[in-house]
Amino acid sequence: MLTLGIETSCDETALAVYDPNKGIVAEAVYSQIDLHAIYGGVVPELASRDHCQKILPLFESNILNTININDIELIAYTAGPGLGGALLIGESFAQGLAAALNIPVIGVNHLEGHLQAPFLGKNKVQFPLLTLLVSGGHSMIIDVEGIGKYNILGESRDDAVGEAFDKVAKLLDLRYPGGPEIEKLAKNGIKGTHKFPIPLSDKDTYDMSFSGLKTSVLYALQDMSEPTDQDKADIALAFQDSATEALAIKVRKAMIKTKRKLLVCTGGVAANTVLRSKLIAISKEAEANILFPELKHCTDNAAMIAYTGYLRRDLASQSYKSLVRSRWPLKMLTEIHG
Ligand code: KG4
Ligand code: ZN
Repeated sequence: MLTLGIETSCDETALAVYDPNKGIVAEAVYSQIDLHAIYGGVVPELASRDHCQKILPLFESNILNTININDIELIAYTAGPGLGGALLIGESFAQGLAAALNIPVIGVNHLEGHLQAPFLGKNKVQFPLLTLLVSGGHSMIIDVEGIGKYNILGESRDDAVGEAFDKVAKLLDLRYPGGPEIEKLAKNGIKGTHKFPIPLSDKDTYDMSFSGLKTSVLYALQDMSEPTDQDKADIALAFQDSATEALAIKVRKAMIKTKRKLLVCTGGVAANTVLRSKLIAISKEAEANILFPELKHCTDNAAMIAYTGYLRRDLASQSYKSLVRSRWPLKMLTEIHG
Protein backbone atom coordinates (compact mmCIF):
# COMPACT_ATOMS: atom_id res chain seq x y z
CA MET A 1 0.00 0.00 0.00
CA LEU A 2 1.80 3.11 -1.27
CA THR A 3 1.24 5.83 1.37
CA LEU A 4 1.77 9.54 0.75
CA GLY A 5 2.80 11.43 3.91
CA ILE A 6 2.26 15.17 4.34
CA GLU A 7 3.82 17.30 7.08
CA THR A 8 3.02 21.01 7.51
CA SER A 9 2.77 21.41 11.29
CA CYS A 10 5.40 24.14 11.59
CA ASP A 11 8.02 25.55 9.20
CA GLU A 12 8.75 22.58 6.95
CA THR A 13 6.62 21.67 3.96
CA ALA A 14 7.40 17.98 3.61
CA LEU A 15 6.12 15.13 1.45
CA ALA A 16 7.20 11.48 1.30
CA VAL A 17 5.98 8.17 -0.05
CA TYR A 18 6.30 4.94 1.96
CA ASP A 19 6.23 1.56 0.25
CA PRO A 20 5.98 -1.33 2.78
CA ASN A 21 8.20 -3.49 0.55
CA LYS A 22 10.87 -0.88 -0.22
CA GLY A 23 10.69 1.76 2.52
CA ILE A 24 10.71 5.45 1.60
CA VAL A 25 10.65 5.71 -2.20
CA ALA A 26 10.25 9.48 -2.61
CA GLU A 27 10.93 12.31 -0.21
CA ALA A 28 11.08 16.11 -0.30
CA VAL A 29 11.40 18.81 2.35
CA TYR A 30 11.14 22.53 1.75
CA SER A 31 12.37 24.44 4.79
CA GLN A 32 11.06 27.94 5.55
CA ILE A 33 14.02 28.71 7.83
CA ASP A 34 15.20 31.70 5.76
CA LEU A 35 11.71 33.19 5.78
CA HIS A 36 11.49 33.17 9.58
CA ALA A 37 15.17 33.68 10.49
CA ILE A 38 14.95 37.49 10.57
CA TYR A 39 12.14 37.29 13.15
CA GLY A 40 14.12 34.91 15.39
CA GLY A 41 11.29 32.34 15.36
CA VAL A 42 8.40 31.00 13.31
CA VAL A 43 5.69 33.53 12.31
CA PRO A 44 2.48 31.43 12.01
CA GLU A 45 0.77 33.55 9.33
CA LEU A 46 3.86 33.50 7.10
CA ALA A 47 4.23 29.77 7.66
CA SER A 48 0.66 29.04 6.45
CA ARG A 49 1.00 31.23 3.38
CA ASP A 50 4.30 29.64 2.42
CA HIS A 51 2.98 26.07 2.85
CA CYS A 52 0.10 27.08 0.58
CA GLN A 53 2.48 28.30 -2.13
CA LYS A 54 5.00 25.46 -1.94
CA ILE A 55 3.03 22.27 -1.39
CA LEU A 56 1.68 21.69 -4.91
CA PRO A 57 4.93 22.51 -6.80
CA LEU A 58 6.83 20.28 -4.33
CA PHE A 59 4.39 17.43 -4.98
CA GLU A 60 4.56 17.83 -8.75
CA SER A 61 8.33 18.21 -9.07
CA ASN A 62 9.68 16.03 -6.25
CA ILE A 63 7.13 13.26 -5.81
CA LEU A 64 5.39 12.81 -9.16
CA ASN A 65 8.80 12.59 -10.86
CA THR A 66 9.25 9.26 -9.02
CA ILE A 67 5.82 7.74 -8.54
CA ASN A 68 2.58 7.54 -10.51
CA ILE A 69 -0.22 9.50 -8.82
CA ASN A 70 -2.68 6.64 -9.39
CA ASP A 71 -0.47 4.24 -7.41
CA ILE A 72 -1.08 6.17 -4.16
CA GLU A 73 -3.52 4.16 -2.03
CA LEU A 74 -3.52 6.05 1.27
CA ILE A 75 -2.76 9.63 2.34
CA ALA A 76 -1.43 10.36 5.85
CA TYR A 77 -1.11 13.93 7.03
CA THR A 78 -0.14 15.63 10.28
CA ALA A 79 -3.39 16.63 12.00
CA GLY A 80 -1.69 18.01 15.15
CA PRO A 81 -0.16 19.21 17.34
CA GLY A 82 1.19 22.28 15.56
CA LEU A 83 0.23 25.67 14.14
CA GLY A 84 -3.49 25.60 13.31
CA GLY A 85 -3.31 27.45 9.99
CA ALA A 86 -0.26 25.50 8.83
CA LEU A 87 -1.91 22.17 9.69
CA LEU A 88 -5.05 23.15 7.74
CA ILE A 89 -3.00 23.58 4.55
CA GLY A 90 -1.70 20.02 4.84
CA GLU A 91 -5.15 18.70 5.64
CA SER A 92 -6.84 20.51 2.74
CA PHE A 93 -4.21 19.25 0.33
CA ALA A 94 -4.52 15.70 1.70
CA GLN A 95 -8.29 15.63 1.58
CA GLY A 96 -8.55 17.30 -1.85
CA LEU A 97 -6.13 14.80 -3.35
CA ALA A 98 -7.76 11.86 -1.55
CA ALA A 99 -11.21 12.89 -2.81
CA ALA A 100 -9.89 13.21 -6.38
CA LEU A 101 -8.21 9.80 -6.21
CA ASN A 102 -11.10 8.24 -4.25
CA ILE A 103 -8.80 6.89 -1.53
CA PRO A 104 -8.79 7.07 2.31
CA VAL A 105 -6.93 9.56 4.51
CA ILE A 106 -5.61 9.37 8.03
CA GLY A 107 -4.75 12.23 10.41
CA VAL A 108 -1.45 11.43 12.14
CA ASN A 109 -0.23 12.75 15.47
CA HIS A 110 3.08 14.55 14.85
CA LEU A 111 4.56 13.28 18.14
CA GLU A 112 3.69 9.71 17.24
CA GLY A 113 5.43 10.37 13.92
CA HIS A 114 8.61 11.37 15.80
CA LEU A 115 8.22 8.28 18.00
CA GLN A 116 8.09 5.99 14.96
CA ALA A 117 10.84 7.76 12.95
CA PRO A 118 13.71 5.63 14.37
CA PHE A 119 12.01 2.44 13.14
CA LEU A 120 11.74 3.47 9.50
CA GLY A 121 13.48 0.78 7.47
CA LYS A 122 13.71 -1.59 10.46
CA ASN A 123 11.99 -4.95 10.05
CA LYS A 124 11.26 -5.75 13.63
CA VAL A 125 10.91 -3.41 16.59
CA GLN A 126 11.92 -4.78 19.94
CA PHE A 127 9.14 -3.58 22.34
CA PRO A 128 9.07 -2.57 25.16
CA LEU A 129 11.55 0.29 24.91
CA LEU A 130 12.27 3.69 26.39
CA THR A 131 12.09 6.79 24.19
CA LEU A 132 13.45 10.27 24.78
CA LEU A 133 11.46 12.60 22.52
CA VAL A 134 13.15 15.99 22.31
CA SER A 135 12.01 18.67 19.86
CA GLY A 136 11.17 22.36 19.66
CA GLY A 137 7.81 21.74 21.31
CA HIS A 138 8.35 18.72 23.56
CA SER A 139 10.76 17.02 25.96
CA MET A 140 9.38 13.68 27.10
CA ILE A 141 10.53 10.37 28.47
CA ILE A 142 8.12 7.71 27.28
CA ASP A 143 7.90 4.03 28.12
CA VAL A 144 6.71 2.44 24.88
CA GLU A 145 5.04 -0.97 25.15
CA GLY A 146 3.87 -1.13 21.54
CA ILE A 147 2.30 0.98 18.79
CA GLY A 148 -0.17 3.31 20.52
CA LYS A 149 0.90 2.19 24.01
CA TYR A 150 2.76 5.23 25.24
CA ASN A 151 3.24 5.75 28.97
CA ILE A 152 4.68 9.22 29.62
CA LEU A 153 7.07 8.96 32.57
CA GLY A 154 8.18 12.58 32.58
CA GLU A 155 8.17 15.81 30.57
CA SER A 156 9.34 19.39 30.75
CA ARG A 157 7.31 21.51 33.15
CA ASP A 158 8.06 24.67 31.14
CA ASP A 159 10.09 25.21 27.94
CA ALA A 160 10.91 22.26 25.70
CA VAL A 161 14.64 21.63 25.42
CA GLY A 162 14.69 22.62 21.71
CA GLU A 163 12.87 25.83 22.61
CA ALA A 164 15.57 26.53 25.24
CA PHE A 165 18.27 26.01 22.56
CA ASP A 166 16.38 28.44 20.30
CA LYS A 167 15.91 31.09 23.03
CA VAL A 168 19.54 30.90 24.20
CA ALA A 169 20.67 31.16 20.57
CA LYS A 170 18.64 34.37 20.26
CA LEU A 171 20.35 35.75 23.39
CA LEU A 172 23.70 34.95 21.75
CA ASP A 173 22.66 36.63 18.46
CA LEU A 174 22.64 33.32 16.60
CA ARG A 175 20.30 32.32 13.80
CA TYR A 176 17.06 30.35 14.15
CA PRO A 177 16.86 27.38 14.65
CA GLY A 178 19.30 27.68 17.51
CA GLY A 179 20.19 24.05 18.24
CA PRO A 180 22.65 23.47 15.38
CA GLU A 181 24.10 26.99 15.81
CA ILE A 182 24.78 26.48 19.53
CA GLU A 183 26.31 23.06 18.86
CA LYS A 184 28.66 24.64 16.28
CA LEU A 185 29.64 27.59 18.50
CA ALA A 186 30.14 25.38 21.59
CA LYS A 187 33.01 23.62 19.78
CA ASN A 188 35.11 26.79 20.36
CA GLY A 189 34.12 27.06 24.03
CA ILE A 190 36.47 26.55 26.96
CA LYS A 191 35.16 23.98 29.42
CA GLY A 192 34.56 25.11 33.00
CA THR A 193 34.33 28.85 32.27
CA HIS A 194 30.64 28.84 33.29
CA LYS A 195 28.52 26.39 35.21
CA PHE A 196 24.72 26.59 34.94
CA PRO A 197 22.34 24.85 37.36
CA ILE A 198 20.26 21.84 36.32
CA PRO A 199 16.73 22.33 37.69
CA LEU A 200 14.94 19.25 39.14
CA SER A 201 18.10 17.13 38.75
CA ASP A 202 18.02 16.02 42.38
CA LYS A 203 14.22 15.63 42.58
CA ASP A 204 12.46 12.28 42.60
CA THR A 205 10.66 12.85 39.31
CA TYR A 206 11.27 12.20 35.61
CA ASP A 207 10.03 15.73 34.87
CA MET A 208 12.48 18.33 33.60
CA SER A 209 12.68 22.12 33.48
CA PHE A 210 14.60 24.34 31.07
CA SER A 211 13.36 27.90 31.53
CA GLY A 212 15.56 28.54 34.61
CA LEU A 213 18.59 27.41 32.63
CA LYS A 214 17.78 29.96 29.94
CA THR A 215 17.42 32.67 32.60
CA SER A 216 20.85 31.74 34.03
CA VAL A 217 22.32 32.32 30.57
CA LEU A 218 20.59 35.70 30.42
CA TYR A 219 22.09 36.71 33.80
CA ALA A 220 25.57 35.56 32.77
CA LEU A 221 25.32 37.71 29.63
CA GLN A 222 24.01 40.71 31.60
CA ASP A 223 27.10 40.46 33.83
CA MET A 224 29.30 41.10 30.79
CA SER A 225 29.27 44.59 29.31
CA GLU A 226 30.25 43.50 25.80
CA PRO A 227 30.50 39.70 25.42
CA THR A 228 33.27 38.65 23.03
CA ASP A 229 32.98 35.75 20.57
CA GLN A 230 34.95 33.64 23.05
CA ASP A 231 32.54 34.59 25.87
CA LYS A 232 29.61 33.51 23.69
CA ALA A 233 31.28 30.22 22.79
CA ASP A 234 32.00 29.51 26.48
CA ILE A 235 28.34 30.19 27.35
CA ALA A 236 27.10 28.03 24.45
CA LEU A 237 29.27 25.15 25.68
CA ALA A 238 28.15 25.46 29.32
CA PHE A 239 24.48 25.73 28.28
CA GLN A 240 24.72 22.70 25.98
CA ASP A 241 26.43 20.69 28.74
CA SER A 242 23.71 21.52 31.28
CA ALA A 243 20.78 21.02 28.89
CA THR A 244 22.02 17.62 27.68
CA GLU A 245 22.98 16.60 31.24
CA ALA A 246 19.45 17.50 32.42
CA LEU A 247 18.09 15.02 29.85
CA ALA A 248 20.74 12.39 30.55
CA ILE A 249 20.10 12.40 34.34
CA LYS A 250 16.41 11.60 33.85
CA VAL A 251 16.98 9.04 31.09
CA ARG A 252 19.54 7.20 33.25
CA LYS A 253 17.04 7.12 36.11
CA ALA A 254 14.28 5.82 33.82
CA MET A 255 16.51 3.13 32.29
CA ILE A 256 17.43 1.88 35.79
CA LYS A 257 13.78 1.84 36.88
CA THR A 258 12.23 0.27 33.76
CA LYS A 259 15.19 -2.02 32.90
CA ARG A 260 14.37 -1.58 29.20
CA LYS A 261 16.84 -3.11 26.78
CA LEU A 262 16.34 -0.61 23.98
CA LEU A 263 16.82 3.16 24.35
CA VAL A 264 15.55 5.39 21.54
CA CYS A 265 16.07 9.12 21.05
CA THR A 266 14.08 11.08 18.49
CA GLY A 267 13.01 14.64 17.54
CA GLY A 268 15.08 17.62 16.36
CA VAL A 269 17.37 17.71 19.40
CA ALA A 270 18.29 14.04 18.79
CA ALA A 271 20.60 15.48 16.11
CA ASN A 272 22.84 16.88 18.88
CA THR A 273 26.10 14.91 19.05
CA VAL A 274 26.82 15.73 22.71
CA LEU A 275 23.38 14.38 23.70
CA ARG A 276 23.95 11.34 21.50
CA SER A 277 27.23 10.45 23.19
CA LYS A 278 25.71 10.83 26.68
CA LEU A 279 22.83 8.52 25.71
CA ILE A 280 25.20 5.98 24.15
CA ALA A 281 27.10 5.88 27.48
CA ILE A 282 23.81 5.35 29.38
CA SER A 283 22.79 2.50 27.06
CA LYS A 284 26.16 0.82 27.65
CA GLU A 285 25.77 1.12 31.43
CA ALA A 286 22.29 -0.44 31.12
CA GLU A 287 23.55 -3.13 28.68
CA ALA A 288 20.85 -1.94 26.30
CA ASN A 289 20.80 -1.20 22.58
CA ILE A 290 20.35 2.35 21.35
CA LEU A 291 18.63 3.69 18.26
CA PHE A 292 18.41 7.15 16.66
CA PRO A 293 16.58 8.10 13.46
CA GLU A 294 18.66 8.99 10.42
CA LEU A 295 19.76 12.63 10.83
CA LYS A 296 17.31 13.84 8.17
CA HIS A 297 14.46 12.14 10.07
CA CYS A 298 15.32 13.71 13.47
CA THR A 299 13.85 17.08 12.49
CA ASP A 300 10.40 17.46 10.92
CA ASN A 301 9.83 15.30 7.85
CA ALA A 302 7.01 13.51 6.05
CA ALA A 303 8.66 10.07 5.96
CA MET A 304 7.73 9.57 9.63
CA ILE A 305 4.15 10.68 8.89
CA ALA A 306 3.76 8.34 5.89
CA TYR A 307 5.19 5.44 7.90
CA THR A 308 3.01 6.12 10.99
CA GLY A 309 -0.07 6.53 8.78
CA TYR A 310 0.70 3.15 7.20
CA LEU A 311 1.09 1.51 10.64
CA ARG A 312 -2.26 3.03 11.66
CA ARG A 313 -3.98 2.31 8.31
CA ASP A 314 -6.89 0.47 9.96
CA LEU A 315 -8.07 3.85 11.25
CA ALA A 316 -8.09 5.58 7.83
CA SER A 317 -11.41 6.58 6.28
CA GLN A 318 -12.99 8.39 3.35
CA SER A 319 -14.92 10.80 5.55
CA TYR A 320 -13.19 14.11 4.91
CA LYS A 321 -14.10 16.10 8.01
CA SER A 322 -11.56 18.48 9.55
CA LEU A 323 -9.49 16.79 12.23
CA VAL A 324 -6.91 19.50 12.81
CA ARG A 325 -6.08 20.32 16.41
CA SER A 326 -3.19 22.51 17.44
CA ARG A 327 -2.99 20.71 20.78
CA TRP A 328 -3.11 16.92 20.68
CA PRO A 329 -1.23 15.32 23.58
CA LEU A 330 0.10 11.79 23.15
CA LYS A 331 -1.98 10.64 26.10
CA MET A 332 -5.09 11.42 24.03
CA LEU A 333 -3.97 9.20 21.19
CA THR A 334 -6.84 6.80 21.70
CA GLU A 335 -8.91 9.52 20.04
CA ILE A 336 -7.12 8.74 16.79
CA HIS A 337 -8.85 9.97 13.72
CA GLY A 338 -9.22 9.09 10.13
O1 KG4 B 1 11.47 18.02 15.67
P1 KG4 B 1 11.72 19.41 15.18
O2 KG4 B 1 12.22 19.60 13.78
O3 KG4 B 1 10.43 20.29 15.27
C1 KG4 B 1 9.49 20.20 16.29
O4 KG4 B 1 8.62 19.30 16.22
O5 KG4 B 1 9.62 21.02 17.22
O6 KG4 B 1 12.73 20.07 16.23
C2 KG4 B 1 13.23 21.36 16.05
C3 KG4 B 1 14.08 21.69 17.26
C4 KG4 B 1 14.53 23.14 17.28
O7 KG4 B 1 14.27 23.68 18.56
C5 KG4 B 1 16.02 23.06 17.00
O8 KG4 B 1 16.77 24.11 17.59
C6 KG4 B 1 16.37 21.70 17.61
O9 KG4 B 1 15.27 20.89 17.26
N1 KG4 B 1 17.62 21.16 17.05
C7 KG4 B 1 18.73 20.95 17.80
C8 KG4 B 1 19.73 20.47 16.89
N2 KG4 B 1 19.18 20.40 15.64
C9 KG4 B 1 17.87 20.81 15.76
N3 KG4 B 1 18.98 21.14 19.10
C10 KG4 B 1 20.23 20.87 19.56
N4 KG4 B 1 21.23 20.44 18.76
C11 KG4 B 1 21.04 20.23 17.43
N5 KG4 B 1 22.03 19.80 16.66
ZN1 ZN C 1 8.57 17.86 15.16
